[in-house]
This record gives sequence, structure tokens and C-alpha cells, in this order.
Amino acid sequence: MGATIVHLSAYVIVVVWLICCLKEGYALGRKATVESHTIQLSSLLPSSICSSATKALDNKSSLQVVHKHGPCSQLYQDKSNIPTHAQILLQDEDRVKSIRSKLAKNRGHSTDLDLDQTDAASLPAKDGSSVGVGNYVVTIGLGNPKKDLTLIFDTGSDITWTQCQPCAGSCYKQQDEIFAPSQSSTYSNISCTSPTCSSLVSATGNRPGCSSAACVYGIQYGDSSFSVGIFAKEKLTLTPTDVFDDFLFGCGQNNQGLFGRAAGLLGLGRDKLSLPSQTDMKYKKLFSYCLPSSSSSTGFLNFGDGGVSKSVKFTALSTISQSSSFYGIDIVGISVGGKKLPISASVFTASGAIIDSGTVITRLPPMAYSALSSEFKKLMSQYPMAQPLSILDTCYDFTNFTSVNVPEISIFFSGDVEVPIDENGILYANGISQVCLAFAGNSDDTDVGIFGNTQQRTLQVVYDGAGGKLGFTTGGCT
Ligand SMILES: *[C@@H]1O[C@H](CO)[C@@H](O)[C@H](O)[C@H]1NC(C)=O
Ligand SMILES: *[C@@H]1O[C@H](CO)[C@@H](O)[C@H](O)[C@H]1NC(C)=O
Ligand SMILES: *[C@@H]1O[C@H](CO)[C@@H](O)[C@H](O)[C@H]1NC(C)=O
Repeated sequence: MGATIVHLSAYVIVVVWLICCLKEGYALGRKATVESHTIQLSSLLPSSICSSATKALDNKSSLQVVHKHGPCSQLYQDKSNIPTHAQILLQDEDRVKSIRSKLAKNRGHSTDLDLDQTDAASLPAKDGSSVGVGNYVVTIGLGNPKKDLTLIFDTGSDITWTQCQPCAGSCYKQQDEIFAPSQSSTYSNISCTSPTCSSLVSATGNRPGCSSAACVYGIQYGDSSFSVGIFAKEKLTLTPTDVFDDFLFGCGQNNQGLFGRAAGLLGLGRDKLSLPSQTDMKYKKLFSYCLPSSSSSTGFLNFGDGGVSKSVKFTALSTISQSSSFYGIDIVGISVGGKKLPISASVFTASGAIIDSGTVITRLPPMAYSALSSEFKKLMSQYPMAQPLSILDTCYDFTNFTSVNVPEISIFFSGDVEVPIDENGILYANGISQVCLAFAGNSDDTDVGIFGNTQQRTLQVVYDGAGGKLGFTTGGCT
């Protein structure tokens, strides 16, 4: 009996020691080793060859996603209008300003639109807004017979539009043939007296107009970017098996702006005129995408729950302001090199955050960004620093290196969701002599945080509008 007790206590002591001291040893070990990626510098430079190696998830309802300015995009054939990195970052700042002003003001302050008289000058200016250029495109089919159109997909806006003939005002140059309603048997105008026409107010921020009984929409992105035309319905072909009659879209007869050579915009926001809302009978407002690791590879945009990985972890979607089309999420923490940064939770709650497919660089509250940047600099101190690049202020000159060790970064969302940023989502390279941490700080504590598209690379991101949640998993595409 006594022997058993002695035996048991010895056993307990050993177990307690194992739990306490091995755990501590493990923690110490973690502190000592910085979790990092070894990045080959050649991988940071653009390639001119498209390597399409995406594992197709659910081909039935899946579209291929490519970067607008990369070799996998057919828009790339015309290289004359590819912006510089400094221009991309400036336009990104314009997009962020437009998101802020959309959140600040309630939408709906507006003018009546007239197709023949509406031009850039008569559209109410929205300060400094832009659709931005660091965007991804997909190709869909419109009309009968179906015409292929390459559109920028945008989770930050609602109405889908494409340039249409006749270009009563003006059309910018696009790669695809401009859509001609007169050549489609399934096209019809929306009447300006119908309730459908009135629903444009919340989707565009403008009251619709009327042109010979046809409903006229107008949407402006500032920066002289806008589209005005007839609000219409048409047969939409996402994939050969996923076809929708009477899809509401803007048939833009007067369009101008920073759309590259894309034929228009695919609106994936939360308003009732967005694509997810119009197709909710089939997909239940669920879609997912994977943005490729670079402009020379391909990702996917998938509608419905087919192909959603079982390893996806979900965080709750929040409404960031009334009548907003944005997908609100709660950022709760950041880790660098395996170590959680000491940022108070109130820093993130004061600003709120959204996820956006069109913003290139993740924006953080000032205190969160400075904590991230200083820890990153500490762990990167062996590398010479370089000049800031536009909004990016933590830059390095890697001229004398062939590979570098870069600390891992994770963003934490409410619901205990850790999202490790892919190694292709940590740095933004303007050539080897200026490679920057691809995050930026807001200037005001209350400015909204934005989880941008560079940090979303290779993640499968699942938008479940009906379920009110947003999911992430790594390794969605290459
Ligand atoms: C899925 O799509 C990929 C390319 O997008 C193709 O190579 C593959 O054969 C397709 N699979 C099926 C089952 O259709
Ligand atoms: C749609 O409305 C426009 C503008 O009023 C008009 O020119 C066009 O003929 C109409 N198209 C159809 C198919 O009714
Ligand atoms: C690269 O190495 C050369 C030769 O040692 C040195 O002169 C130069 O300053 C280095 N450049 C950078 C950016 O560190």
C-alpha cells in the first residue's frame, strides 16, 4: 500500500514536471526561434509567362481568376496602359478614400440622371474615389448568343455593368468586343416606372433617370471614373451549367476611367442588386475565391458551396454601417515571427474592418501598424533599408542577396481564426532594390481597417452572405 503511494507520487511528480517544464522549454524554444519564410528573390520579380496550375475545385460553377495586368490575362496583350507600382499604390489610396467616404456618408444624396445629358461633369463628385487598378478579372458570358466579357470582380460594389453599344457618350478601349444589345434575343430594358429601377438608389448611390421610358443608372468612382447607361436585364452565363435569365445589369453607354482593358465590373457586394443577391436562389449568397500568388498564375471564383474546403475556419460577418455593401469583419490581433503583438483590442474595435477584393494593401489602425512595422524591422535588421514606396514605409534593398528570411505574419479574426499570410502576401516589390512590407497604417484611429488583396493571395476566402460568416483556409491555389 505504502509502496503504491510512493510510486504514485513519483509518477505525479514526473507528470507535473513534464507538463510544466517541457511546456516552458517549448515556450522558450518558440521565443528563441523566429518563425520565418525563406523567399527566393527571383520569385518577387514579375514573370512574363503564365503558369496555370490551379487545382480546379468545382468546375461546374467555377471561373478562372487572373490578375488584370499579368500574362495570364488576355487584357495583358496591350501593355501600353500598365501602371507603375507607384501609380498602383496611389490609386489604391484613392480607392481607400472612396470606401471611407461611402462609409461616412449615408448613400442616396443624388441627382436625377439623363442619359443624353449625363457626363462626368453632371455626376455628383465623390471625393477622390477610384475603383483602383490592382484588380482581378473573370470572364463571363452575356446575351443570346452569348458574348464573352472580361470583368473586374469587386466585393466592394454591387451593380454589374459592361460597356454597351451604341456608345452614346463615350466608351474607353476594351479588349473584348463591346456588347451590342440589338444583337441579343434575350435583352430587355427596365422601365423607369418599375420598382426595380428605384432599387438603383441603394446600389449606386444615385437616383435613376429616364430615357424614352427606359431606366437610366449612373455610378461614379470619382477620379473621372464612371459608367452611365440603360438599366437592363439579360441572360447571364457564368459557366455552361450555371445560366441565369433576367440578370439585372448596367448597359453602359457612357463610360470612362481606370478600368484597364476590362469590359466592366462584376458587383459582388451585399446590396440586393449584387450578383450574389440576384442568384441567391441557387447559391444562397455563397461564393469563394482564391487570388493567385502572382500575376503569372491563376486562381478561381466559385459560386455556391461546392468546392469549399473542409478546413475553412469562419469568422462572423458584421455590418459596418447602415445600407452598406461592404463585408465587415473583426480583426483582433496580429503576430509576427510567431509572436503575438501587444496591441490592445480597443485599437481594432475603434476602427472596425472590412475585407475587400479591390484594395491592394491591407490598411491597419495606426497603433497596430506601428507595432507590426517595428517588430518586422527588428527581425529584418540584418538587411539594409530602402526609401519608402508611396504609402509603404518599411522597405529594403535586397540587391546583394539571392534569398532572404522574412518573418511569418498572421492576422487573427474574431472566433479564434488565425490566418497565416502567404509568403507572397508579405512583401511588395518595386524591383530588388526596393522591397516593402505590404501593409500600411491609417492616419486616423477611427478610419476603417481593410484586409486587402495582396494579403489574401493563395487563401481560399469563403463569403457566406446568408450564413453571415466569412471563412479562410490556406493553400486554395498556387
Ligand atoms: C476542371 O477544369 C480544369 C481547368 O480549368 C480542367 O483541366 C479539368 O479537366 C476540369 N475537370 C473536370 C472534371 O471537368
Ligand atoms: C432601350 O432603351 C433605349 C433608350 O431609350 C432605346 O434606345 C432602345 O431601343 C431600347 N431597347 C429595347 C430593346 O427596348
Ligand atoms: C552591396 O555590396 C556592395 C559590395 O560589397 C556594397 O558596396 C553595396 O553598398 C552593397 N549594397 C547594398 C544595398 O547593401
